[in-house]
Amino acid sequence: MTAALYYFDDEADAANRLGAALGMACHAIDRRQFPDGESLIRITEPATTAFVYRSLFQPNDKLVELLLVASALRDRGVARVILVAPYLAYMRQDVAFLPGQAVSQRVITQLIADHFDGLVTVDPHLHRTPSLEAIAPQLQVAYVSAAGTLAEMLRPDIAPGTIMVGPDGESRPWVESVAKPLGCNVLVGEKVRFGDREVELTVPGIEQVAGRPVILVDDMISTGGTLLKCTALLQAAGATWVEAVTAHCLASDDDLAQLALGGIQRVRATDTVAGVTVAAAIAPALATAIREKWGSLLA
Ligand code: R5P
Repeated sequence: MTAALYYFDDEADAANRLGAALGMACHAIDRRQFPDGESLIRITEPATTAFVYRSLFQPNDKLVELLLVASALRDRGVARVILVAPYLAYMRQDVAFLPGQAVSQRVITQLIADHFDGLVTVDPHLHRTPSLEAIAPQLQVAYVSAAGTLAEMLRPDIAPGTIMVGPDGESRPWVESVAKPLGCNVLVGEKVRFGDREVELTVPGIEQVAGRPVILVDDMISTGGTLLKCTALLQAAGATWVEAVTAHCLASDDDLAQLALGGIQRVRATDTVAGVTVAAAIAPALATAIREKWGSLLA
């Protein structure tokens, strides 16, 4: 019985970090694009259990290629195909906010379950849905939290008296998980969203940040609008320093520049999404979750 990790060339480094943490063979997926934009996928190395590494930032083309990969693996005789998607896309649209909207969380979860036996992912954006298995009961899911990875990243240079702030109620368990091992106090905001970039925020207890450094903690930074709004409030309340940490940083270079202009001194993220903010590898946490869930299949 053999298990192997398959990856796309643009994610070779992150995938090989996971392969090394698991002591697992890593194979590049042979991918070619036809002149019309279609993809040709080829799997050259067989295995019994295949872990396919694909972070689903900017997901549309990647999803189509994953369906081809899953099919090619099964045609090669692979018995079990497990998707490792450190960032899982389309999770925020978990209800139809307006009549007629597709519920993309349900569609994409079901699509993955139709083609993969299992899924490993980091802090998927599940707020009104209890679990991905509630959508697709046949899918075996290993959930990884980035909180421990971020706490260990912060530990060496955490300033005394630092307060950690989560921008909205949904972030509470998450910011508490990062703050607790570091002994930091926590404040949690209340957010109302009006559009992709427009939010209104209040932070009960914000007077506590006067004269103190603040670390903003959120599961993801998308446009950065939430953190910009929060930072303005924290500065007005007398915070001496504001920085941000997140599991998934999706922000563009322009949006990161706006965060810097808005007074956020530093943004640090895990490598679930590649980019300039990456400061911590999620591979050890992924490897632990994979061993716990599928240890008997690793060889
Ligand atoms: C929302 O529930 C999430 O936890 C983030 O707060 C949100 O996605 C951040 O989006 P943005 O950076 O665009 O404000």
